[in-house]
Amino acid sequence: MNSVVDHELIFPYLLRKVTEKAALASYNWIGRGDKEGGDSAAVDAMRESLLELKLNGKVVIGEGEKDDAPQLFNGETFGNRNASAQLDIAVDPVEGTTFLADGQTNAMAVIATAPKGTMFDPGPAFYMEKFAAPAETKGKIKMEWPTAKKLKTVAELIEKDIENLTVFVLDKPRHRGLVEEIYQAGARVSLYPAGDIAGAIMAAIPDTEVDVLMGTGGTPEGIISASAIRAMGGEFLGRIDPQLATELVRVRDAGLDTKRWYERDELIGSDDVHFCATGITSGLLFSGVKRTKHHFRTETLIVTGTSKEMVSLTNWHNR
Ligand code: FBP
Repeated sequence: MNSVVDHELIFPYLLRKVTEKAALASYNWIGRGDKEGGDSAAVDAMRESLLELKLNGKVVIGEGEKDDAPQLFNGETFGNRNASAQLDIAVDPVEGTTFLADGQTNAMAVIATAPKGTMFDPGPAFYMEKFAAPAETKGKIKMEWPTAKKLKTVAELIEKDIENLTVFVLDKPRHRGLVEEIYQAGARVSLYPAGDIAGAIMAAIPDTEVDVLMGTGGTPEGIISASAIRAMGGEFLGRIDPQLATELVRVRDAGLDTKRWYERDELIGSDDVHFCATGITSGLLFSGVKRTKHHFRTETLIVTGTSKEMVSLTNWHNR
């Protein structure tokens, strides 16, 4: 088997084991009010399956300092010298820990990989302002424009009336002004308490119920969204946007520019990027884990950047 076949076909298929196992491990924690319990079960399962994959790579986006994580932390390496490629790895074992704990929609387990050195390392930045939209808009929306002009231009480019344009926004006090601007522009707002990776991906996929993602969320989630959108095609831009006083100091000390909008291909510098996510609870992208008499059923989305293939996979796991 040559390395192209190995990398393009087998590797993404193997990645789904990582997110499936994390989703299955967190299933028992759905609706138990315990964010940490569910997250740590998913982290353990994800780390175990990453070790089984025998990768050679470094976690660039991990559980991170914000969560004080002992495993899958930023900088953790998986060192198999025999592996053909060296990778940057981004993980979010549970995207939407509150959703999981509260038994709400949209929790999922996520991983993305890209060649070594091609994934943007956000250092101490926890928060990022984001903009995501379908491929037709790529390079055509200027971030310095007012919200109304941005949305009007998106609507024209995707040939949709502005009245029917839907913008995904996290339901946070910091977004009150933005939401008002979207209403004033004549578009709809879809407010979600958490889970902006799903929002960004939905925005990049044409003809879904979300057309645009705007607003500030986690930086790790931003890099992971950029991975998925580079792999599938679509627009994504991000700007470091510290929300905490301590974060602001550290971001400044690290010399990060909070005014600059990073383009998608600056955040992920290669088409050889893979994204894989499995639903934990049902949501915008897929169904969550379902328990039947004999099986657990999972739904997974696999996106391969080199071929731009998006595969949706339903798997039945023996109980
Ligand atoms: P968790 O998985 O850590 O709960 O994060 C979910 C999330 O909603 C992300 O989708 C989003 O980017 C981020 O949190 C926003 O952070 P905050 O809730 O602190 O504004």
